[in-house]
Amino acid sequence: MKNLIVANWKMNPQTYLEAEDLVRNILSGVKELNNTEVVICPPFTWLTDFSHKNESLVSFGAQNVFYEEKGAYTGEISSQMLKSAKVDYVIVGHSERRKYFGETDEIVNKKIKKALEVGLKVIFCIGETAEENINAKKNEVLEKQIKKGLNGISNLENVNIAYEPVWAIGTGNNCSVGEAKISIGFIKKIVEEKTRILYGGSVKIENSGAYIKEAGANGLLVGGASLNAEEFIKIVKSAE
Ligand code: PGA
Repeated sequence: MKNLIVANWKMNPQTYLEAEDLVRNILSGVKELNNTEVVICPPFTWLTDFSHKNESLVSFGAQNVFYEEKGAYTGEISSQMLKSAKVDYVIVGHSERRKYFGETDEIVNKKIKKALEVGLKVIFCIGETAEENINAKKNEVLEKQIKKGLNGISNLENVNIAYEPVWAIGTGNNCSVGEAKISIGFIKKIVEEKTRILYGGSVKIENSGAYIKEAGANGLLVGGASLNAEEFIKIVKSAE
């Protein structure tokens, strides 16, 4: 099982030229990887341009997908469209989507099912808020998100779970390796052995290797640091 390092660009960068530059620079630094798979998730506007280039060094992923197949859903993109555009992965259930777009566990579940149906690989995000962490609700929240998000899904072969404590995302306040290890261990007991568990939340070069080597993560979901090719490449190499 290779480690999976995912670049989540979120709503960045602002121009196609910057996006193209970033992809090109990342590609130049990820040759000759043996144990690591790299996925880049740009905004939709740039995604299909890159995914059609048949790049073999990395895979491309979407940051979102809709659960309906087709029809009158203005502004939405279906799983089939992603598949047809040579996109391999999709991030589902990111905390920013739960927070700003009202995505519930039920919606997340429908999206995962549809994505898997067409053969996409899913990066399913879970994680507790600061308040849930303080109130010792972490395990309860993680278990609920997993059970509801994966409800009715028996084959987890194409499912990767990203453990992202909400309080650690974009704050610079990354989860300690010891704490991440406990949560990753807890998640591993709930799902199948072969499901990769990623860590995400303020990953940077100073902490990335330790999540893989010490906390038992099978990969990383990298936000801010994935917008800097040099730093992202170092993070990828720390997982090799
Ligand atoms: P961050 O974002 O690395 O900027 O904290 C991670 C994520 O939201 O996936």
